[in-house]
Amino acid sequence: MKRISILTAMLLSFVFAHAQTKQFTLEEGWKFSKGDFENGAQTNFNDSKWEMVTVPHDWAIYGPFDKEVDKQVVAISQNNEEEATEKTGRTGSLPHIGDAWYRTNFELPNYEKGSRVLVVFEGAMSDPQVYVNGQTAGEWGYGYAYFNIDITDLVKAGESNLLAVHLSPKALSSRWYPGAGLFRKVRIIVQPESHFKLWNTFVTTPVVSDDLAKVNIKTKVSGENLKLETSIKDASGKVLVSKSTDEMFGDEFEQNIALENPKLWSPESPVLYYAVSKLYDKNGKLQDEQTTRFGVRTISYTPENGFQLNGKTRKFKGVCLHHDLGPLGAAVNKAALRRQIQIMKDMGANAIRSAHNMPSMEQLELCDEMGMMFLAESFDEWKKPKVENGYNRFFDEYHEKDIVNLVRATRNHPCIVMWSSGNEVPDQWGSDGVKRAKALQDIFHREDPTRPVTVGMDQVKAVMESGFGAIMDIPGLNYRTHLYKEAFERFPQGLLLGSETASTVSSRGVYKLPVEIGHSKTYEDGQSSSYDVEYCNWSNLPEDDAVLQDDEDWVIGEFVWTGFDYLGEPTPYDEYWPSRSSYFGICDLAGLPKDRYYWYKSRWNTEESTIHVLPHWNWRGMEGDTVPVFVYTSYNTAELFLNGKSMGKRSKNKSSKLERYRLMWNDVVYQPGELKVVAYDDNGKTADEKVIKTSGKPYQLVLDADRTTLDANGKDLSFVTVSVVDKDGNPCPTATNQLTFKVSGAGKYRAACNGDATSLEMFHLPTMKLFSGKLVVLVQSTEQTGNITLQVKGKGLKSGNVTIKSE
Ligand code: GAL
Repeated sequence: MKRISILTAMLLSFVFAHAQTKQFTLEEGWKFSKGDFENGAQTNFNDSKWEMVTVPHDWAIYGPFDKEVDKQVVAISQNNEEEATEKTGRTGSLPHIGDAWYRTNFELPNYEKGSRVLVVFEGAMSDPQVYVNGQTAGEWGYGYAYFNIDITDLVKAGESNLLAVHLSPKALSSRWYPGAGLFRKVRIIVQPESHFKLWNTFVTTPVVSDDLAKVNIKTKVSGENLKLETSIKDASGKVLVSKSTDEMFGDEFEQNIALENPKLWSPESPVLYYAVSKLYDKNGKLQDEQTTRFGVRTISYTPENGFQLNGKTRKFKGVCLHHDLGPLGAAVNKAALRRQIQIMKDMGANAIRSAHNMPSMEQLELCDEMGMMFLAESFDEWKKPKVENGYNRFFDEYHEKDIVNLVRATRNHPCIVMWSSGNEVPDQWGSDGVKRAKALQDIFHREDPTRPVTVGMDQVKAVMESGFGAIMDIPGLNYRTHLYKEAFERFPQGLLLGSETASTVSSRGVYKLPVEIGHSKTYEDGQSSSYDVEYCNWSNLPEDDAVLQDDEDWVIGEFVWTGFDYLGEPTPYDEYWPSRSSYFGICDLAGLPKDRYYWYKSRWNTEESTIHVLPHWNWRGMEGDTVPVFVYTSYNTAELFLNGKSMGKRSKNKSSKLERYRLMWNDVVYQPGELKVVAYDDNGKTADEKVIKTSGKPYQLVLDADRTTLDANGKDLSFVTVSVVDKDGNPCPTATNQLTFKVSGAGKYRAACNGDATSLEMFHLPTMKLFSGKLVVLVQSTEQTGNITLQVKGKGLKSGNVTIKSE
């Protein structure tokens, strides 16, 4: 059965609702074209041959990968380089540069005179210029910024209105893959004459105890002689308390509402409340209505107690994430974001940092709902450039507007516990930068006095000298673990955040011998070792951070670079083609955990035990050679057996940095067969075990869907992990078979990804090679209900099938 599309449903509610703010998302029916266009041509195009797309959309993710896209001869000063060399892959080598147009039509049924019409963008990559019915409506700069434009004077009621958006992302504008296009939601909002101003309601909970929370609500409205009634509801919709006021100060109402026995928001218990606000005129006629979701929680940062959520000290077990969703590119997809957050939660992470720009609303909504704290960042550059066409182009004109919109649009999300005004900005040098740091922080404070501000600082010596570090609410250090102590002593705040840590590099399932700790290591195959001992000249092993996190109360947590691999920045292979995505991820670009996932899980996830053994045990031709075996486990002691013979017990050893967190058997001599690890509890009793075996030839494909029921909404996704096993069901960890994918029924093939940073296969084409024996296929629902079947085939292999319901 065909469902009523979301747009139709929204239009229907539009028709039947009374005078109140109405909004609809412009998703389907966009026309898109990339190329050079005459100025002003937006009204005269013959767009009949343009591609039909849905928004969010990223035009560049369809490729092809091309080293010429971002080839540049440059010395990356952030990476301590002094000599310029040829770099490729820095922005993902996908065609994200150039001019493009998006056009769509919308109507305004039942438009009432006096209403205001806004078009709201949550991200448009980049340099958006907006036209309505052939007239210039407005423009913005930064591709990640949220902005809205009042188009009341340009729209026509009762007619079809043409919205056209011109984008022109520039070369040399980013240090990672920025994506391209209308990659986040676009909405039309129609506000009645008296209305709630967009992004102008602010809910805080300044006083919280077990039996009472003071909910403070500041609401800005347009209109006069108005009365505001606010009801607080719980998640079941039950009204808990209501209060009205007609006292307005300027354009603002302020209410303090007592909420009894509040349930507090936390990562473990992400309880949400809803403030339903109704605006009445003096005759009691309803003018506007809105619902603001919020949480009741307190945060504090003090030298005595570090970071506290709801009065309890805890550390940030955080990950940095870039905005791209691997094979989906930058186009926002809620199912993909939900999966990312779940994978990180399962690892034991409790926080995400949006490196290095404004997060999507969808990500914040999910973090609120799933319980994940959030450090919301704004910029990677201020006035001084890192890349020629970076944010430095916009800083003077836009920085205040961009911060204001970021804070106002997102400050009701309980997940956000800190702001960041910048990352490793070159303005860390010089007195202008100190003033800028203060000015930016002041804007955040003005818009939100409840959360502190940090900057990810890498020029630690300079910021100690200049005072830059001293003015931060929370000094954030990127790497430089050797300077933590000195910075803590010299800065006045009495605490320190690891705003960016580790930058350890690895490729899933690839192990390099001999095992050697070191930085900037490269190999002929363009892969980094999953023994987790390789990093960059500015970064370090996970252990270097762990020691500080675990031993020093004044370190309030860390944000590991990064939770997932991302497109672009293929360090240490930025001079090696075809590397085009990162190696930093705890999970690969497909979201598959690398070994490091279990290293972090064994430390962070205190609810579940962890036992993980590496490397794989398929080393044909290496019989008689040394192949070290590592175990990442939450247990303190384990014993390793090779083909039944004990290789000895190992226990965690606090006096050695590595052995404190990993159990290592460095002298194992390879022979094929079975590797078994037995973990012991602190009483010496067997607690758990794990076996891996040398596999035979690839025989059969095995499919494992993360979700077997989807929403028939045209955008929900199931991520199906495809692996290959031998005749006995043992995973084949080095298989590279070429596979093909076919989706039938009520869904479609969306993309595939194998996590190989050197692969030039396009994600949207239904064929890909396995990488280290695995890949992930994304199956997307349509608006049709029914069964979806994915069939995966490979030459000489028994094929695999999975059926997913869409309802
Ligand atoms: C940091 C930077 C990140 C990323 C990382 C790689 O210095 O803030 O954006 O480049 O290094 O290690």
